[in-house]
Amino acid sequence: MRNIKVKRKELIKGEISLPGDKSISHRAIMMGSIARGETRVKGLSDCVDCQNTLNAFLKLGIEIEEGYEGELTIHGRGLKGLSSVREVIDVGNSGTTMRLLSGILAGQDFSCTITGDESLKKRPMKRIILPLREMGAKISSPDDNHPPITIVGQKLHPIDYLSPVASAQVKSCVLLAGLYAQGRTSLTEPSLSRDHTERMLRYLGAPIETKGRTIFIEGVTELGAKPITVPGDISSAAFFIIACLLLQNSQIRIKGVGVNPTRTGILDILKNMGAEIVIENVRELCGEPVADLVVNSSSLAGVEIGGELIPRIIDEIPVLAVAATQAEGVTEISDARELRVKESDRIGNVVSQLSRMGALIEEKEDGMVISGGKRLVGTSVNSYGDHRMAMALTIAGLIADGETTINDVACINTSFPHFIDILNKMVQ
Ligand code: S3P
Repeated sequence: MRNIKVKRKELIKGEISLPGDKSISHRAIMMGSIARGETRVKGLSDCVDCQNTLNAFLKLGIEIEEGYEGELTIHGRGLKGLSSVREVIDVGNSGTTMRLLSGILAGQDFSCTITGDESLKKRPMKRIILPLREMGAKISSPDDNHPPITIVGQKLHPIDYLSPVASAQVKSCVLLAGLYAQGRTSLTEPSLSRDHTERMLRYLGAPIETKGRTIFIEGVTELGAKPITVPGDISSAAFFIIACLLLQNSQIRIKGVGVNPTRTGILDILKNMGAEIVIENVRELCGEPVADLVVNSSSLAGVEIGGELIPRIIDEIPVLAVAATQAEGVTEISDARELRVKESDRIGNVVSQLSRMGALIEEKEDGMVISGGKRLVGTSVNSYGDHRMAMALTIAGLIADGETTINDVACINTSFPHFIDILNKMVQ
């Protein structure tokens, strides 16, 4: 599928359950593989990124049985139970796979090379190479930053690491490596990023503790296996929530969505903008909070977004920008430089593509300024191979006059293969 054509729609309605959270799915496969014993995982995301994690562990000798509706049984062989592989492990577009897997491979007894697609080869890996080296890992890449990276497994030692970026991928890489180091490893981040790794490790009984922005983990010899159910992905929900807010006379209910506070920045910001979103039936699933969301069409007002909020909405900014084009007043996003090194430059690309649709949007080095209340006009736009760009532009197409052609949309499978099907069933 090279492009899709989207026409303006009247409304969106219905009740949906969304596929499992991508971040939690990656972690379930990884931790199930290094735990000892059988891990049954329910609700796993079937996206290509998670398939890449699954394939990596299959190559590393882990037996994984696929059941119905995303159910998996992982036969974990313990922390050091992975087998060496001769061939290079290709993790495609998945930064999470590359960075977290590196932490696990650093503590093995063999060497391994990981590579990725053209987009991943442009993404920074120095952020994990430096702390892993400090822990004693032998890890290199052609320019000491970009993939492919080669890791020669070593005996690791604990470190106290002050991370320069609020990145859950860096944090998780160090914490997973910390499992292999004898003694206590700590990591302090500049502001809190998603904490799924900490929660899953705690759920599996690992000695992990959090004090403010510092996480402590003790090295262990074994990780216990426990069943894991993955909640629906709030990052996928964001596209439907914003479509519902922007289309008149709309109401949707999204059941079983993960509402981990390190991920709910999108709900907080939209509510601040005036969105009618009700969070119902909050419960806990394997250490993660889950809820149902009821959303109604709403009039939105512009807001200022920056600082500690940014890591809590990092993946939702492209679609949030679409919402901001329809809000009354100005929305300013700052402190979001990290968007430049995601699957594409999400500052430059959001600004250029929404401008093409008539939005009043200006680029800043660390974000963007959007003057709302401007009707969008359908035209031809490009995702630049970035799944979240493709889906955000699809939502923009639903509210734009006429027809919008979104080019390069196969990338949607990276995180949400059913996006178009689900959307088509709900819009009128
Ligand atoms: C992720 C963390 C985030 C996010 C990515 C998934 C994770 O990246 O953008 O889509 O699963 O840990 P950073 O932690 O590098 O910001």
